[in-house]
Amino acid sequence: MSSAAPSVLFVCLGNICRSPLAEATFRLASDEAGFCVGIDSAGTGDWHVGNPPDPRAQAVACKHGVDISWYRARQIAADDFCRFTHIVALDHQNLADLRARKPKETTAELSLLLDHAEGRVGEAVADPYHSDADGFMRTWNDVSAGAAGLISRMRSGA
Ligand code: 4NP
Repeated sequence: MSSAAPSVLFVCLGNICRSPLAEATFRLASDEAGFCVGIDSAGTGDWHVGNPPDPRAQAVACKHGVDISWYRARQIAADDFCRFTHIVALDHQNLADLRARKPKETTAELSLLLDHAEGRVGEAVADPYHSDADGFMRTWNDVSAGAAGLISRMRSGA
């Protein structure tokens, strides 16, 4: 791990469903652990820039006691690859897009979120956009598992 203060950027396609929920669960996990870390999320696409999270994402977060209505979607930028120590993709396409956009000589470590969850290596967090409330609950559970694994790995300094 880099010696810079740790910071994590979660990235999906639209930054209105999965990555805001990953951000929310990681904020919860880091607060619980008392671990000081910068946290944000972004999308590879720009269709939803400036928008709040999808109402179904807000609803599942609210069910878990977290208000994410103030989050606003943004698109990943070149300087994110130096500003963050860790950039964590929600699915394989997001990871491929990040690798393609990564400027040379950048420092962020790129990974897939569920690679950090025990027994889930290589799995993607499915896109719930065309799903229902159950789909968003599965997303919450998936990103919670990834967030828990990532926080414990970062705390151990690995
Ligand atoms: P996300 O979900 O990448 O998890 O934020 C999506 C949001 C919007 C679209 C697709 C996926 N869209 O096609 O607009």
